[in-house]
Amino acid sequence: MSSKWPENLGEAMIIKEKLLMGPGPSNCPPTVLKAAANPLLGHLHPDFCVIMDDVKAGIKHLFQTENELTIALCASGHAAMEATLVNVLEAGEKVVIARNGIWGDRAADIASRAGILVAMMNGNPGKSFSTEDIEEFLAKEKPKAFFITHGESSTGVLQNLKGIGSICRKYNCLFLVDSVAACGGVELKMDEWGIDVLYSGSQKVLSAPPGTAPISFSAQAREAIKNRKTAVQSYYLDVEILGRYWNVDNQPRFYHHTGAVTNIIALREALSFISSKTLEQSWKRHKNCQKKLHEGLKELGLELFVENEDDRLPCVTTIKVPGGVEWAKVTGLMMQNDTIEMAGGLGPTAGKCWRIGLMGYNCTEANVEKVLWSLKKALESVGYLSQIETF
Ligand code: GLV
Repeated sequence: MSSKWPENLGEAMIIKEKLLMGPGPSNCPPTVLKAAANPLLGHLHPDFCVIMDDVKAGIKHLFQTENELTIALCASGHAAMEATLVNVLEAGEKVVIARNGIWGDRAADIASRAGILVAMMNGNPGKSFSTEDIEEFLAKEKPKAFFITHGESSTGVLQNLKGIGSICRKYNCLFLVDSVAACGGVELKMDEWGIDVLYSGSQKVLSAPPGTAPISFSAQAREAIKNRKTAVQSYYLDVEILGRYWNVDNQPRFYHHTGAVTNIIALREALSFISSKTLEQSWKRHKNCQKKLHEGLKELGLELFVENEDDRLPCVTTIKVPGGVEWAKVTGLMMQNDTIEMAGGLGPTAGKCWRIGLMGYNCTEANVEKVLWSLKKALESVGYLSQIETF
């Protein structure tokens, strides 16, 4: 092997801006990208510690929680899913996982690898779970924790979380919620709804670069961690040690790992961006843009995957690919001609659906119009619209 440097690395990177209208990452506001271009700081420098404190406060606001153990992982939403499961559960303990898309499968995979017993509560892709079904399942299985996905980005389903917390309390089980694809875009009230562990990702509604994941643990969740018989199997994701790096409980800062300084700085700016208006305004904007998008899709003769209107996630819309149309050809044309990303399906919707994301900074009426305009042209190119325009 040659010891010369790879020639490609000698060439300048040219990155063309794209409009990211898939399920994430979404585009960052210019202020967030500018924040990421700040000088680097040490991961324990006093000025960086102030930024970490601001981030904690921003996440508490976003999650609507007073939980002391509220931090950002320097890792993706997947790591937050893993941190959730491996901290509050030990090998041999049982978790019920509500599964109506890919995220239930992923959580089950992570839990099983850690020796956690998984009882899968199977639902239908395209439908949310009812509180009655959840209660029946928990009464039968008596798990230590119940895991559910708030915004199933693979199917475009929104799970109503209200009422589940009290069911979990009744059966003495912890309530764990993945809100990677929903948080910030729909109503979410961690404390009021009795959620014990909640996490999200930076790259969705927050519109920050991928690589950080807000996460919060209730007092009950921390009690469960305190009562573990075994150490958390992952040092990196042990949230109580990690909390010391984040000055949780006013503990002296502890060197747990070298924080992703630049990403945390960008996250701080993204939290400032979303907090510059009320959360209610953000939820409303997502709902209004969703409505406009759905009307436009209907005009194009397209059908939505999620039948029940209340089950439709404003942040990710799943659209059935009409018979005879090659989904990848359409997304390819949109990217090639208009540099607009629309994604294909994932998990149960793979090959059957397209997915359009309306998240945070990207969630504007102008972007809805752009994506519909580009989709219409692509559908015309593949001959689909000429068929439907003849009726
Ligand atoms: C990722 O979150 C995806 O839904 O593709």
